[in-house]
Amino acid sequence: MAHKLALIGFGGVGQGFVNILREKKEKLFENHHIDFKVVSISDLYKGSLHHPDGLCLDEVIKAVQDTGSLDTYPNHDGLIRDLSSKETIERTNADSIVEMTFTDVQTGQPAIDHCKWAFGHKRNVVMTNKGPVALAYNELSNLAKENGVQWLFEGAVMSGTPALRLPQVTLTGNEITEIKGILNGTTNYMLMRMEDGLDYEEALKEAQDLGYAEADPTADVEGHDVLYKILILANVVLGVPLKREEVECIGISTISKADIKKAKELGKRWKLVGAIRQKETGVEATVQPEQLDLDDPLAGVMGAMNAITYTCDLSGPITLVGAGAGIRETGFAVLIDLIEINRHKKGMEG
Ligand code: HSE
Repeated sequence: MAHKLALIGFGGVGQGFVNILREKKEKLFENHHIDFKVVSISDLYKGSLHHPDGLCLDEVIKAVQDTGSLDTYPNHDGLIRDLSSKETIERTNADSIVEMTFTDVQTGQPAIDHCKWAFGHKRNVVMTNKGPVALAYNELSNLAKENGVQWLFEGAVMSGTPALRLPQVTLTGNEITEIKGILNGTTNYMLMRMEDGLDYEEALKEAQDLGYAEADPTADVEGHDVLYKILILANVVLGVPLKREEVECIGISTISKADIKKAKELGKRWKLVGAIRQKETGVEATVQPEQLDLDDPLAGVMGAMNAITYTCDLSGPITLVGAGAGIRETGFAVLIDLIEINRHKKGMEG
């Protein structure tokens, strides 16, 4: 079954996703009977391509690798160039929009508008962008429902590690009483290196050199990145419309090497923990450095790894550990959401 895609944003994750499609084309057909066809790509800097019968992915990657632009993609009959993201979403014949633009967690834009335009034109949206899910979950999920389309975003929390699908699908039937996680790789890596003896600044520099931290690492070290993931977990997994001003947020910039040494002497380890706890009075959410006992499953999660513990009334605590970022991992998150859309489509067709 052909599933036509329009990619909005074509940076590292977009190109990584296209490479996964090239690599897995046969397997996806063999195992899932899916033939993904990219019919549109629109990127603010690299340009835009649309062909209703599908683009040649080898040529797309070649153009971007050779020149950093889609402008050198060869001309074909019926090829349209230079559509804006809005024009692409409105005019494409794609079934699903894969939204991979820059994450702006202050406003959620332009990704929020991309979702609205897509839903209004009866197209599914798959994204890895935290902004729209953290800031406009209720509005956008209602809009998707009203238009009979799907909106999936597994990659918004812990990239390809299924932090959202696990509680929503596999743990269903439980009541989740607490969610607690290490949801930022940069800070987890920095705390590990500070335990090895590095200063805060040295550890941050290493995390930046390794590509974990954002160019402006404020969102990482001050806990904002974790805060937005906590908002997503509260809204999506617990159905609680938590807002950013309701979450106490403290980053790791206050933690010194001496604090880390002292914790070690006490048999504990500092971690930047995002947590949501169900209380009789409602939920309480925090992002803050916590000293964990070494037998806490989160205490053993080192380097840029992420982890999340769901405490459930029936199954008890369940911890999921995996990558929280990465081009290939995030590309996988997009793929699994698209496969899910196909399953749903098949189910509807009976
Ligand atoms: N900079 C983030 C991290 C990327 O370090 O985890 C994923 O949100």
